[in-house]
Amino acid sequence: MLAKYFKPSLLKEIAEAAGTPVYVYSKAVFLKQIASYEKAFRGVDPLFCYAMKANSSRALCALAAGGGWGADVVSGGELYRALKAGFEPGKIIFSGVGKDQAELEYALRSGILFINAESFEEVLGLERAAARLKLKAPVSLRINPDVDPHTHKYITTGKLGSKFGVTFEEAEKIYRYAAESEHLNPVGAHFHIGSQVYSAGPYALAARRLAAFMLKLAARGVGLKYADVGGGWGAREGAEMPDPAPLAAAVDGVFGGTGLKVILEPGRSVAAPSGLLLTRVVYRKRGGRKNFLIADAAMNDLIRPALYGSRHPVALVGPGRGAEKVYDIVGPVCESGDFLAEGVRLREPEAGRLLAVYSAGAYGFSMSSQYNSRPRAAEALITGARSWRLIRRRETYKDLVAAEL
Ligand code: LLP
Repeated sequence: MLAKYFKPSLLKEIAEAAGTPVYVYSKAVFLKQIASYEKAFRGVDPLFCYAMKANSSRALCALAAGGGWGADVVSGGELYRALKAGFEPGKIIFSGVGKDQAELEYALRSGILFINAESFEEVLGLERAAARLKLKAPVSLRINPDVDPHTHKYITTGKLGSKFGVTFEEAEKIYRYAAESEHLNPVGAHFHIGSQVYSAGPYALAARRLAAFMLKLAARGVGLKYADVGGGWGAREGAEMPDPAPLAAAVDGVFGGTGLKVILEPGRSVAAPSGLLLTRVVYRKRGGRKNFLIADAAMNDLIRPALYGSRHPVALVGPGRGAEKVYDIVGPVCESGDFLAEGVRLREPEAGRLLAVYSAGAYGFSMSSQYNSRPRAAEALITGARSWRLIRRRETYKDLVAAEL
């Protein structure tokens, strides 16, 4: 269980000093998750590109960069933050279905490893951008391998009919075009089948399809260097990442000995267990047959329960008193979808008590908003047994209007 990494005394100290709601991350857990990938993938020796969308806080990204990892970015903004966090440009890849000309030029000027393009039109746009800059753009294609990863439909991305990638047939045409172009350099092929995937089977299937395609392509004169198998390895709420060894075996089984450099883009499995959302009970109340705890964190801070039905374990910080009751933990936002957790058993937490919402390190802060004009939460990093530091200040009311003209 993750609680052992987040000592109640430290959490209380952080809440006192930084206020609530506050995201609290553990450096130790983040590094542990990174280490488990490195251990499992020793034989494959991939380039790990941390998927910044999971959590783009500079302090966490810097930990990944410091461990020699690259970054997977999906917007000009993420590229900017990746460079600021210290990722080497030559280890950054740029994915996403809708990169515009300005973003493509920014990526090319920054000298990133390659761009994962997702349509012929995007490749033509990339070619134009490269021509303007008088260089050759390193390009990889995201291919939709038509594999079902058996996860939530919003985060299933590698089945035909999703907006992502191109078919193998289309990819072949694009690679042939790119190979002839003065301004394109086809270097890789990519798939990402989805997120919160718990078994290696779908990866193995997608990898076999990709490898067969790459082999065929090489025989037709287009040899590629990189096989990018995306991210998506799951981490159940409340738990650390399951051993990625089966994933490593599946990838190695297909690409081992091919001479291709494998790229992996993990996000959630590294960041989710590393963070929790710390919130205080504002009020208790009964509504119908339900007991509600109204917390000072809301769906604008953590939208995952409302959007994906995710169930994050919630625990009292420190010991509880009295009998256990079942609570719905909700926020102050004016929507019935504003809940952090439903049906949680807790010992009577009075107003002012701290609650820890676990496994919120990925897609928590990064998906947060100012909805209901709520300033975004602060972020803190636990750096040692008794040490922590603020890594992002809480937004103020002034921040809410700062960009308005
Ligand atoms: N690579 C690509 C191209 C991706 O689209 C994603 C995630 C990743 C890598 C990282 O996947 P991960 O290792 O984090 O599963 N907001 C949702 C998750 C969206 C995932 C989007 N793509 C959630 O909170 O569950």
